[in-house]
Amino acid sequence: MEIAVAGGTGIVGRHVVRIAKERGHQVRSLSRREGVDLVKAEGVGSALKGVGTVIDVSGLRSMHTKKSVDFFMATTESLQQYGKAAGVQHHVVLSIVGVDKAPAGLYAGKQAQEEAVRHGDLPWTILRATQFHEFVEQVLDRASLGPTVLVPRFKTQPIAAAEVAEALVDAAEAGPQGFLPDLGGPRPERLRDMVDKYLRKSGKKRLVLEVSAPGVLWKAMRSGALLPAAGAAVGRQSFDEWLESRES
Ligand SMILES: NC(=O)c1ccc[n+]([C@@H]2O[C@H](COP(=O)([O-])OP(=O)(O)OC[C@H]3O[C@@H](n4cnc5c(N)ncnc54)[C@H](OP(=O)(O)O)[C@@H]3O)[C@@H](O)[C@H]2O)c1
Repeated sequence: MEIAVAGGTGIVGRHVVRIAKERGHQVRSLSRREGVDLVKAEGVGSALKGVGTVIDVSGLRSMHTKKSVDFFMATTESLQQYGKAAGVQHHVVLSIVGVDKAPAGLYAGKQAQEEAVRHGDLPWTILRATQFHEFVEQVLDRASLGPTVLVPRFKTQPIAAAEVAEALVDAAEAGPQGFLPDLGGPRPERLRDMVDKYLRKSGKKRLVLEVSAPGVLWKAMRSGALLPAAGAAVGRQSFDEWLESRES
């Protein structure tokens, strides 16, 4: 199968590219550093020539509602418009568990992306996954103020990005299915504990402050509304096992 991976250089995208290649598919990755800009619609037409399935794992690193909505509307429109012209038959999208319960920040963009895909011209599959184990590194990158890290009060059920990637390649192989069951990790965690354990393992010293803020997204994070519901698919590797498997 000829598969295009939008965002194939990202945290989950790298695993999607690797696994799809290991399974014998022809794979191209689409990202700005590879000459394809999905927001500006540059290089998309030629990148999608001959492609049958698009797996979209592109993303932006912002919690700003308008930036997020603009990003996911633009990237989805590019993939749909050029995908239709190129004869793409299946659009697989990675979304986030609970996007419908917290229409703010990044989640507002993901919700707009889901809507655009559901009402678009290409047959589709949407997989909602929880935060990756790797999310802890994104929090440390983005929420550090000098030696202090501000960690949202967040109940999550994290999963290995590699397992999410496997599920996305499975979905590409299965053909259009609409919404798949949510996918979460094997056990709930408190984000603050994940950060503490990560810092201990990597030998880094930070002052960790757990913070809450008003607003629908923050409320959803601390209330457990972003945990997968009963009947969700469950990943294998726990956060502790993922951490143990990493070089410190
Ligand atoms: N991280 C999580 O815990 C998590 C959990 C569930 C779902 N998700 C969703 O999964 C997706 C991937 O997340 P991630 O954490 O793997 O993202 P990431 O590491 O930030 O990777 C984003 C990818 O998108 C590409 N990209 C960004 N802007 C682009 C543009 N204008 N044109 C083309 N490519 C562009 C990036 O490459 P360039 O910068 O080179 O363009 C990169 O390959 C996101 O939609 C996210 O919302 C994430």
